[in-house]
Amino acid sequence: MIKLAVSGANGRMGRLIIDRIATEEGMEAVASFDIRGEGVVHPEKMADTLRDRGVDVLVDFTVADAAIENAITAAQSGVNLVIGTTGFSEDDLLKLRSEIEDRVAAVISPNFSIGVNLLWRLIKDAAAVLEGYDISIIEAHHRTKIDAPSGTALRAAKVLEDMGREVDIHAIRGGDIVGDHTVIFSGIGERFEIAHHAQSRATFVNGVIRAVRWIHRRENGIYSMDDVMGWR
Ligand SMILES: NC(=O)c1ccc[n+]([C@@H]2O[C@H](COP(=O)([O-])OP(=O)(O)OC[C@H]3O[C@@H](n4cnc5c(N)ncnc54)[C@H](O)[C@@H]3O)[C@@H](O)[C@H]2O)c1
Repeated sequence: MIKLAVSGANGRMGRLIIDRIATEEGMEAVASFDIRGEGVVHPEKMADTLRDRGVDVLVDFTVADAAIENAITAAQSGVNLVIGTTGFSEDDLLKLRSEIEDRVAAVISPNFSIGVNLLWRLIKDAAAVLEGYDISIIEAHHRTKIDAPSGTALRAAKVLEDMGREVDIHAIRGGDIVGDHTVIFSGIGERFEIAHHAQSRATFVNGVIRAVRWIHRRENGIYSMDDVMGWR
């Protein structure tokens, strides 16, 4: 039985993840952390709670600053991690890496949807073929999303920039849009688009559950969904 804790347990993602764990074979949620709401443990008590309840994996969907603190606490407690929080700076990611990679195993991904992970792969093929095309990324999310551009758009841009391509990113915030990403390659006489539309947060939850099963008892280190999917 995999014993899970969720931080951000009263948030949109946290609530869905806890509901899903209750229906999954071989795993149970033994602790919920949040700074607001009923029935949760305050993150100040995270280290003691992780130890007392024998947590195997902490899933974090909070905000960047909180996620770093939570991840360090979990790593110091020997608890593996699945981190979905976005909005990390390059420095944040360096700090996370140095604090956790020798202590525990962690999957960190700005998007747990299988379709988005495929998009990150497919745009490499497109960019290799469509030389000289202008590349733009348009992303759209609900009005309360804090970070812009999205972690998903930034990851797509990095994939393309690492190939020596220039990329424009445009972010839209409005209503209850779950998450849309379109990568547009504009040439002379044609336009090629690769698009992903998250229709519900269930797509992220599916990937999180897959990552939890994969990271449990994995060797220490930092992994991505490419590892979980067996793509490298
Ligand atoms: N990787 C992915 O696939 C994916 C998918 C959706 C959202 N996200 C990201 O996940 C994060 C959460 O998204 P959301 O829509 O659930 O947000 P949300 O605002 O609904 O929930 C965040 C929760 O974290 C809590 N929180 C804040 N500080 C905390 C702390 N120190 N310890 C514990 N809990 C704390 C808040 O009180 C809130 O309940 C965001 O960064 C978002 O961009 C990632």
